[in-house]
Amino acid sequence: MNNKDGFNVTPWDVTGEVDYQKLIAKFGTQEITQNLLDQFKRITGEIHPLLNRKIFFSHRDLDLILNNYEKGQEFCLYTGRGPSGNTHIGHLLAWKFTQYLQEKFDVELYFQMTDDEKYLHIPNMTLKQTLGYTYENVLDIIAMGFDSKKTHIFSDIEYGKTMYSIAVKIAKHITFSTTKAVFGFKNSTNIGMVFFPALQAATCFLPSILKNKKIPCLIPAAIDQDPYWRGIARFVAPKINLPKPAQIHAKFLPGLGKGGKMSSSNPNTAVFTTDDVDVAEKKIKNSYTGGKDTIAEQKLLGGRPDICPIYDYYKFLFEYDDSKLKNIYQECKSGKLLCGDCKAHLGNKVKIFLKDHQRKREKAKNVVEKFMLRD
Ligand code: TRP
Repeated sequence: MNNKDGFNVTPWDVTGEVDYQKLIAKFGTQEITQNLLDQFKRITGEIHPLLNRKIFFSHRDLDLILNNYEKGQEFCLYTGRGPSGNTHIGHLLAWKFTQYLQEKFDVELYFQMTDDEKYLHIPNMTLKQTLGYTYENVLDIIAMGFDSKKTHIFSDIEYGKTMYSIAVKIAKHITFSTTKAVFGFKNSTNIGMVFFPALQAATCFLPSILKNKKIPCLIPAAIDQDPYWRGIARFVAPKINLPKPAQIHAKFLPGLGKGGKMSSSNPNTAVFTTDDVDVAEKKIKNSYTGGKDTIAEQKLLGGRPDICPIYDYYKFLFEYDDSKLKNIYQECKSGKLLCGDCKAHLGNKVKIFLKDHQRKREKAKNVVEKFMLRD
């Protein structure tokens, strides 16, 4: 990491201790205010814990999407996945929330699998491998419970005919110096990567082009993807006379080690959806925590939930009951709850979740074609 903030967030690399407030200022996004939460409540009758807990914490034009929705105007959802390996529970965070939004607002979802990006970006990756991961990951996506009638998943490589004609319209407006400034590309970057942002931006306009009317999209995703929307899609939209995409940005799920987000390139600190349930439980048991060095010290002084990945897993995914979460927090701080017990309890929850997810993942194999968008 080579900047003064002590952290770095790009679509391909997240390092250091991310200061999300600073990121809002740096990227020029908006904080999700109480007003917006109230508006969610007015529309859906509730505030999802991921919103209330500020895990989805920032946005662009979410107010516009909600105001127009209240006036009866439609929108669609767009999210994606770069199939570089198996799915881990960090990926599920945005997908879970996207599924929730689809259900509450009853809208269509476009789900882009950027196998082209992963092929271009990862030195040893073959096209066959990344396309294989596309179909592995699609099983996890389907297992999240998306509506097969309203969910359109596509692989960039396979759906290239439709995507290419949109991507060239975008690429024509983007200079090399812009992509260098937005993504940090260098003269040594391969030209596939230089063109790729046009493909990720293209999905923002795909629904409008397929349906031949202007349909704005809302993109739920981790905040590292923001450069595509800020630097490319929102810039090009008025030039091609289509609506700017709106975003709702999530924080990163930490890995099981000390610091950093959960990442497939560090398999011991990630819980994969395909992990044997006992292996997953063991990974959690071996996780870093915010606990003290000795039991005696922890009983006396309490633990540190604010820097603990185990606490974050409860908060982000595995304990949506606010009073139970508060209990975990307080009992940790007071020294009553010790890390061993806390990890065992989480391990159990993860095991139950994985068993159910893996069952749904198997069933998904029969319905893949119902979800796939083809040229
Ligand atoms: N580039 C993303 C990744 O590597 C995949 C992606 C494509 C995406 N379109 C998206 C993610 C839209 C979130 C929202 O994972």
